[in-house]
Parts: sequence; structure tokens; C-alpha cells
Amino acid sequence: MAQSTTSTDKQPLIELKHVDKHYGDLHVLNDINLSVDRGEVVVVIGPSGSGKSTMCRTINRLETIDSGEILIEGQPLPQEGKDLARMRAELGMVFQQFNLFAHMTVLQNVMLGPVDVLGVPKDEARERAMDLLSRVGVAEQADKVPAQLSGGQQQRVAIARSLAMQPKAMLFDEPTSALDPEMINEVLEVMVRLAQQGMTMIVITHEMNFARRVADRVVFMADGQIVETGTPDEFFDHPQTKRAQDFLNSIKGH
Ligand SMILES: Nc1ncnc2c1ncn2[C@@H]1O[C@H](COP(=O)(O)OP(=O)(O)OP(=O)(O)O)[C@@H](O)[C@H]1O
Ligand SMILES: [Mg+2]
Repeated sequence: MAQSTTSTDKQPLIELKHVDKHYGDLHVLNDINLSVDRGEVVVVIGPSGSGKSTMCRTINRLETIDSGEILIEGQPLPQEGKDLARMRAELGMVFQQFNLFAHMTVLQNVMLGPVDVLGVPKDEARERAMDLLSRVGVAEQADKVPAQLSGGQQQRVAIARSLAMQPKAMLFDEPTSALDPEMINEVLEVMVRLAQQGMTMIVITHEMNFARRVADRVVFMADGQIVETGTPDEFFDHPQTKRAQDFLNSIKGH
């Protein structure tokens, strides 16, 4: 293992090469090329229907692709079975809807994956789950069921649940867009801290302040294509394309 460290460090963690996908006549992903390095935070923005969620979902094979390649640490995505399950666990995914198990306590939600999928002994899983719940600020809620929590608290539990699988990267698809305004910041703060701790992240979001603060790179999508990519300052202050300029104007004042 040790001798390969240098080469894997230089290799992108996630790489999409010429990825194409259609839904019938709709070219939902059109020659997508994206490479994400370890520790990098990439924010994906763009109009509704531009293919952001679809792209994100292809990365852990919740969606198949027509052609092109998706590589995780240089390896193609496994097609199915145990290898696919293992790879999915390595890429944490947090959605707009929290998708917690309603009949389980918060603690059980966070322990489930490590115990069932990773085979972590229960005592150890419980200890780690409690530690993660403290890190996202909801340790006091451990014995409640999700319905007894606010949306912001549930989303932080969902993040803790993903982190419990010790993922190599985290994919966030509009994690705050279903939340009441007063709960958005508590979730964004958890994400800011994750980014500061070096987590590799792909974040689809309309939270432009967040993007400015933590993104290493902004990727702008429209009509299934990556139209523009740059640092937050480049993108927000000097968008190059008319599409991006129009999009930024349309969201100003929101
Ligand atoms: N399962 C599906 N079958 C057919 N069309 C789909 C399917 N899923 C998504 N689409 C279409 O693909 C396009 C891209 O959808 P996608 O959800 O990736 O967009 P998005 O950029 O995430 O939009 P939003 O900002 O609204 O979440 C849309 O036109 C959508 O209607
Ligand atoms: Mg979407």
C-alpha cells in the first residue's frame, strides 16, 4: 500500500470523462468532464433542469450513463453487487429530503450502516455515532425519532449518518433547500466545518455566500453541459459566458 501513496495522492479522487446521458430525447448530460481532487470543495450551480442532480447521482451510480467514464481513485465504478455497495458507502450522499428511517431513533439511524454494512461492533458504532452527533450539535436528540426533530436537526443527523460510513467524499444535493430560513445556517455551518477539516465535497446549492466562502471551484451547468468553471471570485465577479451572467442576474436579490 505505502508505495502507491504518492501516485494515488496525485490522482483525482473523482473523475468524470466525456459522460453522456439521455432521457429519451433529452440530452441531460452532454460531454461532462469534471475532476475533483482530494480535499477539494466543488460547488455546482445552474438553472433548474440543467442536470445537476443527475450528474451527482451518476457519481455513485444511482443513475447509469450512456457513455463516458466515471472513475473513483482511478478505478471505474463497479457495475453491481458488493463492490458497488462498498463504493456507495465511500461516497456519502445528502439530499434535500433527509431520508432518515422514521421508525428508528437518531442514534440507531447513525449506527445502522457501520454495524450492518461495515461490521463495526455495536459498542464501538454507538460511541462513534454519539461523537458524530456531538460534532453536528444534536447529541441531546440521540434517543428521539426523526419526526421529533426540526428539519435542520434532521438534516444534521443525515450528515452524521453519512459521515459514520467514513466516506472518501461527500455529495450534497441542495441540502438546505427544503429548510426554513432560520435552519439553513446551522446546516451550512456543519458543512463549512467539514470543508475546513479537509473533506472532499461536491455541493449542489443556491447558497451563494456558502459557495464564496468554501468553494475551491464553482462549476456552472446549463442544458446538461458544464458551461463555465472557475474560482468563486472569478465566477461570481467576472462570469465569462452570457448564460452565467444571465443566471447570476436572475438570482440577484434572492
Ligand atoms: N428519471 C427521469 N426521467 C426523465 N427525465 C428526467 C428524469 N430525471 C430528471 N429528468 C429530467 O432531466 C433534466 C435534468 O434534471 P435534474 O434533476 O438533473 O436537474 P437539476 O439541475 O438538478 O434541477 P433542479 O435545480 O430543479 O434540481 C430535467 O429536465 C428533468 O426533467
Ligand atoms: Mg436537482
